[in-house]
Amino acid sequence: MELTPFLQKELPEPLYSQLYHWIKKEIEEDRLLPGMRMPSIRQLMIHLKVSRNTVEAAYQQLQSEGYLESVPKSGIWVAEMEMPSLHLNKVEQPPRLENKPANEVLVDFEYGNIDLEKFPLKQWKKCLSDAVDQENFQYSEKQGEWALRREISNYLLQSRGVRQAPEQIVITAGTQASIALICRLLELREKTVALEEPGYSGVRAVLEDEGCQIDPVPLEKDGLSVDHIQTSRAKAVYVTPSHQFPMGMVLPISKRMRLLKWANQTGGYIIEDDYDGEFRYRGQPIPSMKSLDEEERVIYLGTFSKSFLPSVRLSYLVLPPSLVDQYARKFAAYNQSVSPIIQRAMALFMQSREFERHIRRMRKMYQRKHQALLRSIEHYLGTQVQMVGEKSGLHILLKIKGETASELIESGLQKGVKVYSPLVFWMHPISEANSYIMLGFGGLSIEEIEEGVRLLASCLSGAGEIG
Ligand SMILES: Cc1ncc(COP(=O)(O)O)c(C=O)c1O
Repeated sequence: MELTPFLQKELPEPLYSQLYHWIKKEIEEDRLLPGMRMPSIRQLMIHLKVSRNTVEAAYQQLQSEGYLESVPKSGIWVAEMEMPSLHLNKVEQPPRLENKPANEVLVDFEYGNIDLEKFPLKQWKKCLSDAVDQENFQYSEKQGEWALRREISNYLLQSRGVRQAPEQIVITAGTQASIALICRLLELREKTVALEEPGYSGVRAVLEDEGCQIDPVPLEKDGLSVDHIQTSRAKAVYVTPSHQFPMGMVLPISKRMRLLKWANQTGGYIIEDDYDGEFRYRGQPIPSMKSLDEEERVIYLGTFSKSFLPSVRLSYLVLPPSLVDQYARKFAAYNQSVSPIIQRAMALFMQSREFERHIRRMRKMYQRKHQALLRSIEHYLGTQVQMVGEKSGLHILLKIKGETASELIESGLQKGVKVYSPLVFWMHPISEANSYIMLGFGGLSIEEIEEGVRLLASCLSGAGEIG
């Protein structure tokens, strides 16, 4: 069965509520009859081009009111109702999300999710299928499929100003795999590695497991303290200069130059993680550190997790030419761990220029979501919070006044909005760390973002009159 309600994104009424009302009316006016099977959540979200949460919230409300019935392993059905006509004259109250069943998450600001509504699934499936047709089903080259490395090489030159050859690129199954390779390549066991504090805990875990001594580098208003690095015994420093993770600042050019100078003078290495460099919404694009690296001290890390899909598990590193031979010798006995089929499919996707188009579409899409997030925060939360790192990327932090993050996270859950604590990103958490919450918005629709912030605002004391 196909349902085609007229949903209007520009209306103040959230989409899930419009959908709920429409289906309810169809049932009450006998156009949808008891015993009819409803489309699955997935079918309907694809058909209506809305998010999963929108359909789920509408279906859940209809189920809790007895209009729909979910039968395990069978589907969702229009329920048998005793006196459907009773509903006809009732004044319709939009279901308040606050009245949701306990523990139901209606809006989840989880970091790491990406937009799937505009994902070019058809084109990607075609590339996967073509890759299988072309694949010779053998191992790929140790550093990764040549065709993919060539595409990445072109892409990096055009979009990130990184001048390199495909020979310098190594394909990896994720940023953590890249870090583990670097530790072995540079023989960092028992050596000091400097890491932004707060910084990406996923990288810190690998460094610890590889036996590195971690030197947490305090952050200043404009990124990591280069003064601290200059007095450190670090052999390498891991840094997110384009968009500090998780605080979001951009490392200014003066600090980049000083960091490069430190590396040149001490023979240290800079590990630059450019994980979401594609998504910058304000100001000039900032060139990567790798593009300034004349003395071959920067190892650049890239990933397809934000720009494409986290589930392809495709990342890469760019080695300075001076480390390429060393890499080949050191890892001569290691096979490439990313499937050649996935690598080839990605190469085809990039060759067909679909990747470029996808990035352009996503940049616009994320910019709209980002604007909606900032607007909603200003509107609903006003001066009760301070935004941190709001110029780029797929997440922001909020510093909350007069309440701890853990309290807000807890009361948010009661209202169905899930936000996160960035506490884990501190190696040595300071008390201030508990005044931040983290909001990832990549996977949410604009309506969900607005609704999520509204719900969050209703949790803050003195926010009863807001929204
Ligand atoms: C700082 C940082 N680097 C890299 C990544 C991506 O890691 P991967 O390539 O393993 O998906 C993330 C994702 O959460 C991140 O936050």
